[in-house]
Amino acid sequence: MLDPKMEKQLNQQVAEEMYSSNLYLDMAMHYANVGLDGFAHWLRVQATEERDHALKITDYISQQGSRAVIGALAEPKAKYDSNKVIFEQVLHHEQHISKCIHQLVDLAISLKDHATQAFLQWFVTEQVEEEEQAGKILNLLKIAGEHGPGLISMDRYLASRAAE
Ligand code: FEO
Repeated sequence: MLDPKMEKQLNQQVAEEMYSSNLYLDMAMHYANVGLDGFAHWLRVQATEERDHALKITDYISQQGSRAVIGALAEPKAKYDSNKVIFEQVLHHEQHISKCIHQLVDLAISLKDHATQAFLQWFVTEQVEEEEQAGKILNLLKIAGEHGPGLISMDRYLASRAAE
């Protein structure tokens, strides 16, 4: 059984990951609407990954004999002023998720919960990758610009992302 504090915070992380999934799905819908299918594809794959992250945590909570909870989610809120603005939000959101994961690790350490500490290491590593990916796309967008051949190349590049 998990310590109740650990159980509560892990369940909060389930909600964070589910919110991330909905946020990226909403962004994908924006891109589908403006006809940038590569961007839409990349964000849909990302949304699926986030749902998988949530389920990875619920499975762990259950494995520990505690109760995983799927709570209510806020409506995803994003600004759609430009591609740069959208991917800045992706990066900031991933930085926020990294902080949440680090707080979970801090709690596991303070509770001497070695199993949860070990479980969370996968997420610590994953977040380095997630921030790197979002940062790379943001940089490429700054080079490619918001219109024209550069943007079309970006769309093709993002379309090539393999589903996990
Ligand atoms: Fe599951 Fe992108 O954090």
